[in-house]
This record gives sequence, structure tokens and C-alpha cells, in this order.
Amino acid sequence: MSERKKVSLPVLFDKMARGIPLTMVTCYDYPMAYLVEQAGIDIVLVGDSLGMTILGYDSTLPVTMSDMIRHAAAVRRGTPNTWLIGDMPYMSYQASDESAVLNAGRFMAEAACDGIKLEGGQEVVSRVKAIVAAGIPVMGHLGLTPQSVSSLGGFRLQGKSAKQAKKIVDDARALEDAGAMAILLELVPDQVCELITERAKVPIISLGSGPNASGQLLIFHDMFGLYPKFTPKMAKKYGDADKVIGDGLKQYVAEVIGKVFPEPERYFGIKDEEYQELRRLVAAEE
Ligand code: KIV
Repeated sequence: MSERKKVSLPVLFDKMARGIPLTMVTCYDYPMAYLVEQAGIDIVLVGDSLGMTILGYDSTLPVTMSDMIRHAAAVRRGTPNTWLIGDMPYMSYQASDESAVLNAGRFMAEAACDGIKLEGGQEVVSRVKAIVAAGIPVMGHLGLTPQSVSSLGGFRLQGKSAKQAKKIVDDARALEDAGAMAILLELVPDQVCELITERAKVPIISLGSGPNASGQLLIFHDMFGLYPKFTPKMAKKYGDADKVIGDGLKQYVAEVIGKVFPEPERYFGIKDEEYQELRRLVAAEE
């Protein structure tokens, strides 16, 4: 386990002030989290994208708070020193400020998260204020917000016209004024991301929104080819874990069928006299 100092909000703001890009990934379980911590990533999001990447749903909408808490707690066990954010799933905050605070609190109490993320702009300002007032750091999420994918018309670039982009700029300001500690911009044009970053006093994280942000986010499964349905264009593949695992499984099948596996060093026997005695005991009963 790495001995690095725990990442805190002052550490993140200090990096932003010094122009050091923040690194962030979405991941979902203990072994991935362990690797993320060893790599020195600043922020981990346990995203509700796990509904698609881990649970195999077609969208994030069926994900429950129980799913999120189970995975967030596992990730925390692998990333004791990373800034950990729990993603508020669909309908965990939309209904009322009260439900938003209670569910955000579950991430802190049951999964030892450092903060939460929720989707939306001016329409979630009262939720953000209520959660921040409860002492829980909030990351906002604008642009392509998957929980509203149906009203956004699909997984596509958001804020292409000046009018739509102005709404995102205004939403970012509203979230910041409401107390959000950072804002994630997913799939918005590079220039819009740059404009928001220039004006913001909190870190702006880009997912497919270009280089001119305080930090970058990628989804672990996209980075390593672990989501079979598609890899979005904005995601860069940093390794072929799908190939490594697929090849390994094919080799395993071939070795079992070919009686190559298990090799003698992978199983264990008892002394011959014990075995003879065992045979005698079994035979006596027959
Ligand atoms: O759930 C998730 O992983 C996310 C990212 C797509 C930002 O919200």
C-alpha cells in the first residue's frame, strides 16, 4: 500500500492554484481502487455508470443507493488516501432537499466518502445548498448528464449553440454560488469548458470537454477496454485488459480440456501411509 498523504480539499485547491492538473477516474471495486491509489490519482468517483459497466443495465437509471453504497465502501477500502466521491443515483436527490441530505449522508457514514456528486444546474441549487449546509462537500455535474439522457436527446455534445452554452455557464456559476466544491463538465465544447474554468474559483473537471480545465476524468472501464458495448470517442484506451483477460480465459479452457492444468505444483497430497490407511478405512465400510 502506498504511504502517500491523504488527499484533502486544501490539497486539491492548492494544486488548482498552482496550475497542476487534477487527476480523476471513475472506478467501482476494491482491486481497481487499489491500483488507482498506487498510481497516485487525486480523486476517485464511484459513478452510477456502474449500472452499465458492472451491472449490465442499458442506462444508469436502475441504480439504487444500496448498489452505490456497496461499491463505494469497497472502493474506499482500496483507496484510503484518495479523495473519494459517491455519485448520487437517480431519484436519490430529485424528490426533496431532505431526501438529498439523507442519501448524501449515507455515502459519508456508510462508505466513508469525502463528498458526493449530483447532476444538474440551477434546478438543483437548493439540493446543493442543503447538502453543503449538512457539512458534505458537493461536486456538480453539467453538460451531458446521463440521468437526463432522454430529455437531452441521447449521449451527445451539449452546449453547441451560444444560447445552450450560456445556460451551462450560468448553471456552473449557480452551482459555485450554492457552495459546490468542484464542477464536472461532461462532453461540452472545449471553448465553453475553458470559459467556465477561467471564471471559476473551484476546480473544473473535464470529461470529454478538452484540456482547458483544472483536471481530467476518465472511466476506468473505458481506459482498459472493459466495457464490451462501446468505448466513447472522448475516452482514451490506455491498455487492453479485455485482450489480456480474454486470452487468459481461452488458454485456461484449452489447458483444462488438454489436461495441462492443474500442474503438479498447484495441488497437494498426503503421505502415502496416510493414503493407504484412508483406503483401508473406506474399504472397511464398503
Ligand atoms: O457515473 C459516472 O461515472 C459519471 C461520469 C460519467 C462522470 O457520472
